[in-house]
Amino acid sequence: MNENKNTGFTLWLTGLSGAGKSTIASRLTEVLEELGLPVEWLDGDDLRQHVCKGLGFSREDRFENIRRAVYLAGLLNRHDVITIVSVISPYREMREYARETLSGFGEIYVDCPLQVCEERDVKGLYAKARRGDIPLFTGITDPYEVPEHPELTLHTAEQSPEESVATLLEWLKNNKGM
Ligand code: PPS
Repeated sequence: MNENKNTGFTLWLTGLSGAGKSTIASRLTEVLEELGLPVEWLDGDDLRQHVCKGLGFSREDRFENIRRAVYLAGLLNRHDVITIVSVISPYREMREYARETLSGFGEIYVDCPLQVCEERDVKGLYAKARRGDIPLFTGITDPYEVPEHPELTLHTAEQSPEESVATLLEWLKNNKGM
């Protein structure tokens, strides 16, 4: 974790579609708000409806998506806002870009086996991808590069969302003095 004099930092949740990134990010945001901390949550699905509207899932578009998310997170961090970003961000290079650009950064790998994500298939996207209706689907027809040195890994096939949030809070306590 890089440190700076601001209290803002970014928790970067990366993982496959359906791994649990948004669920964990949403609950963690609620908990931090209840503690009276300034917090903002930037979610991939949401960003793609607004500032990232029109971007697709080619490597180039995913990079542009991440570049915009990093830019927003940087602005928020500068104003001491804890920012939780939940995006697949499948390439190591894009996560390294986030790490190098943001002055306070923690990479949180939301780890869940592809088979479990596919069984969950909350949005029905895996079934569509298997039918060939969605090209470049992460984990099926597009890569996901597993983080090599994340600050923290959450195993969501074995932990409930509440347990994952508790693990994250413990990490924040130990690493950010919260
Ligand atoms: S990325 O790779 O970081 O730019 O992706 P992200 O902005 O997080 O968007 C992922 C959500 O878009 C939906 N979706 C797809 N995901 C992966 N591959 C393809 N081709 C795709 N098409 C649509 C999907 O709902 C992702 O949401 P999550 O929350 O991860 O399930």
